[in-house]
Amino acid sequence: MQSSTLPVIFILALFCLPYAAFSSKSSHQCSDDFLHLDAYLGMDERHDTRCRKLTTLQAQFAWNFYRTSQNQTQVNILIGTKMITDAGWLAWGVNPDLPQMVGTRAIIGIKPPNGSSPFVNTYNITKDTKLYCSIQPSDIGLRVQNKTAEHVTKTGFFTISATVILPESYNVSSLNHVWQVGYVAEGFEPRMHSKTLQNFDSREILDLNSGQCQNIGHNSRHLRKIHGILNIIGWGTLMPIGVIIARYFRVYPFRLESWWFTFHYSCQALGYILGSFGWGLGLFLGHESKYYTFYTHRVLGICIFGFATLQMLAFRLKPTKDDEYRKHWNVYHHFLGYSLLVMIPVNIYQGIKILKPDNTTWKWAYNGILVLLAMVVLALEVYTWTKFLYNKKGQPRHGNATPSDQAPQKTDQGSGTSPQADQTQQKTDHGSTSSPQID
Ligand SMILES: *[C@@H]1O[C@H](CO)[C@@H](O)[C@H](O)[C@H]1NC(C)=O
Ligand SMILES: *[C@@H]1O[C@H](CO)[C@@H](O)[C@H](O)[C@H]1NC(C)=O
Ligand SMILES: *[C@@H]1O[C@H](CO)[C@@H](O)[C@H](O)[C@H]1NC(C)=O
Ligand SMILES: *[C@@H]1O[C@H](CO)[C@@H](O)[C@H](O)[C@H]1NC(C)=O
Ligand SMILES: *[C@@H]1O[C@H](CO)[C@@H](O)[C@H](O)[C@H]1NC(C)=O
Repeated sequence: MQSSTLPVIFILALFCLPYAAFSSKSSHQCSDDFLHLDAYLGMDERHDTRCRKLTTLQAQFAWNFYRTSQNQTQVNILIGTKMITDAGWLAWGVNPDLPQMVGTRAIIGIKPPNGSSPFVNTYNITKDTKLYCSIQPSDIGLRVQNKTAEHVTKTGFFTISATVILPESYNVSSLNHVWQVGYVAEGFEPRMHSKTLQNFDSREILDLNSGQCQNIGHNSRHLRKIHGILNIIGWGTLMPIGVIIARYFRVYPFRLESWWFTFHYSCQALGYILGSFGWGLGLFLGHESKYYTFYTHRVLGICIFGFATLQMLAFRLKPTKDDEYRKHWNVYHHFLGYSLLVMIPVNIYQGIKILKPDNTTWKWAYNGILVLLAMVVLALEVYTWTKFLYNKKGQPRHGNATPSDQAPQKTDQGSGTSPQADQTQQKTDHGSTSSPQID
C-alpha cells in the first residue's frame, strides 16, 4: 500500500510545484518608466490615453483615438520596448484581415548601431517577407503622420509613435494588431527576428474603446505548460529512473530479484502514460498553430513517442529467458532504450528553447532534474566498480582470506603485474633493434 501511495504523492507534488512556479500573473499596467516617457506625456496631454503591457517581447503600448468627420478613426499610438542590443528594430502594425503577420500594414523603427539616430518607415508585410525576401519601405494604403522612432538612453526604451488614420473598413472594436522586435537590420531593411513563441504570439485583437484584448496565444499558454510538465516528468524523469533501476538493481551491484522488474515496469508504464498525454497535447498545440511549426521539436517528439511505444510493446513480446531470441530482444530493447535517453533531453531542451527568453525557470528545473539523475548514476557507477574491483581482488586464492590477508595481496598483485606489462610494452615499442637492451 505504502509503496504505491508514495509515488502518487511524489507525482502530484512534481506536478503542482512547477505549475505554481510557472504561472506568474503579470499585470497589464504600464511601467512607471514608460508612463514617464516624454512621448507618452505629450500624448496624454492632448487626449485621454490608455496604456497596457503587451503579452510578449516586453512591449508596452499606449493609444488614444477619435473619429474624424469622414467616419474615419485617427489613432495615435506609442509602442516601446527595452532594446537590449546596440542595434535593432521595433515594428507595429494593423492587419485588416486576420491577427497575423502576413498582410500587416506596419510601421517599423530601426535603431542603427553606433548610436546613430533611428529612422522609421512604413512597410507592407507579405508572404514574401515571411520567406525571407527583403522588405523595403513602401506606401501601405493608410495615412500615417508624424511617425517618430526614438531611443531613450536613460531608460533604454526604444519607441515608435505615429498617428494612423484608419478608414471605415477597420473595426476599432476588434482591431487586429501585431508587433515585433528584431536585433538585426541593414540600412532600411529589418532582418529576420528570432523564432521563439514570443515572436509568434505577438498579435492580438484589441478593442480600442475598452482596452480589452483577445490574445491569440493565450489559450495555448496553459496547455503548453501542461505539455511541458507532463513530458518533463514522463519522458524526462520517470523513464530514466526506470533505466537506472534496470541497470543497477537487476543483478549487480544490487539484486532485487523480482522487485526490480516491478519498479522498472511501473516507472516506464507511468512515464509512458504521462508522456503520451503530454505528446498528445503537443500534437494538438502543433495543430493549433497554423502559422508556424517547430520542425525539430515535432519530429523528435514523434520519434520519441514511436520508440517509447515500441518499448512498451517489447514488454509484451518479451521472449522467455531460455528462448534463443532473448539475446536479440535484449539488444533491441537496450538500443531503443539508450536512443530514447539521448533523444529525450535533446527534445526537452528544444522545447525549452522555443520559450525563450521566458524559459529560465524551465531550464533550471530541468537542469536540476538532469544533474540529480546524473549524480545518482555516478554514485551507482562508482559503487558498482568499487564493488566489482574489491570482489575481484578479494577473491580468495587459498581457502578463506581475511581482510588483513587481502591488503598485502593487493600490493603484491600490483607490483607483480605492472612490470610485466611494462616489459611487453617495451618489446613492442622498440622492436628487434633494441632487443639486447631489454636483456
Ligand atoms: C458616416 O456613417 C454614417 C452611418 O454609418 C453614414 O450615415 C454617413 O453617411 C457616413 N458619413 C460619411 C462622410 O461617410
Ligand atoms: C561604427 O563606428 C566605427 C567608428 O566610429 C566605424 O568604423 C564603423 O564603420 C561604424 N559602424 C557602422 C555600422 O556604422
Ligand atoms: C502595400 O499595400 C497597399 C494596400 O494594400 C497598396 O496600396 C500598396 O501598393 C502596397 N505597396 C507595395 C509596395 O506593394
Ligand atoms: C504632427 O505634428 C505637428 C507638429 O508637431 C502637429 O502640428 C500636428 O498636429 C501633428 N499631426 C497629428 C495628426 O497629430
Ligand atoms: C466590430 O467588432 C465588434 C466586436 O467584435 C462587433 O460586435 C461589431 O459588429 C463589429 N462591427 C462591424 C461594423 O463589423
